[in-house]
Amino acid sequence: MTEQTAVIVGASSGIGEALARELADRGYALGLTARREERLRAIADELPTETHVAGMDVTETAAARETFHALAADMGGADVVVLNAGVAPDNRDLDWGPARDTIDVNVRGFTALATAAAAHFAAQGSGHLVGVSSVAAHVGNPVVPAYHGSKAYVSNYLEGLRYRFADHPADVTVTTIEPGYVDTDLATGELWLVPVETAAEQIADGIAAERRHVYVSKRWRLIAWALKALPDAALRRLT
Ligand SMILES: NC(=O)c1ccc[n+]([C@@H]2O[C@H](COP(=O)([O-])OP(=O)(O)OC[C@H]3O[C@@H](n4cnc5c(N)ncnc54)[C@H](OP(=O)(O)O)[C@@H]3O)[C@@H](O)[C@H]2O)c1
Repeated sequence: MTEQTAVIVGASSGIGEALARELADRGYALGLTARREERLRAIADELPTETHVAGMDVTETAAARETFHALAADMGGADVVVLNAGVAPDNRDLDWGPARDTIDVNVRGFTALATAAAAHFAAQGSGHLVGVSSVAAHVGNPVVPAYHGSKAYVSNYLEGLRYRFADHPADVTVTTIEPGYVDTDLATGELWLVPVETAAEQIADGIAAERRHVYVSKRWRLIAWALKALPDAALRRLT
């Protein structure tokens, strides 16, 4: 059987790093990208399968897209592309700086790479796009409003791509990952905090099953549903 290949954007720490380790254990050849290239090299050295590394800042959109295409070509094509890069800077004072940084990475950078991956899959005739959004997509937040807004964008954007590829000659699957709280430096809460290895395992299972939507962990599905049903006053108190 031909080895599957996967590119992970944002693989230098947290969920992306753990997913790299999980997918390598499952036999995937990998392409790892992020800004901290030396961390990617150290991770790649520990993986059991062929691993390519490429430094990339997703906010430098033209260079990032070029790097993605060069990496995929070096790997002989990418079967799976995981868009995981994200930031969630605290913004209690509602400053423009943290909001701009959030939009730059989670919206602008995400879209630059999503369109590059979609073009790659369309040319290749197949592929699997996996976007890491968040349960935050389902509700506003007074402290990090741009983060929650950015994840609503990511989830809706992925849904749009899923509908688009349903009627496309290329066989492209789109999976939306919505974690609750995962134990990384980025985590903004502790409710049902999941170890990063468990999150990676659940995401890899979702990829293998070609699921449309994966909550990490599964119980967040119920919360996402309840958030839609709660009245505004209750939501305000909750957040
Ligand atoms: N942890 C949670 O509780 C949680 C919950 C829901 C959703 N998520 C989502 O999960 C994803 C991963 O987060 P994490 O918790 O694993 O945090 P993390 O450890 O901080 O990982 C973030 C990753 O994104 C990369 N990244 C950030 N800015 C980048 C840029 N400008 N260009 C390229 N890569 C960039 C980082 O690499 P470099 O710094 O090396 O560039 C790193 O590899 C994010 O999209 C986050 O929103 C996390």
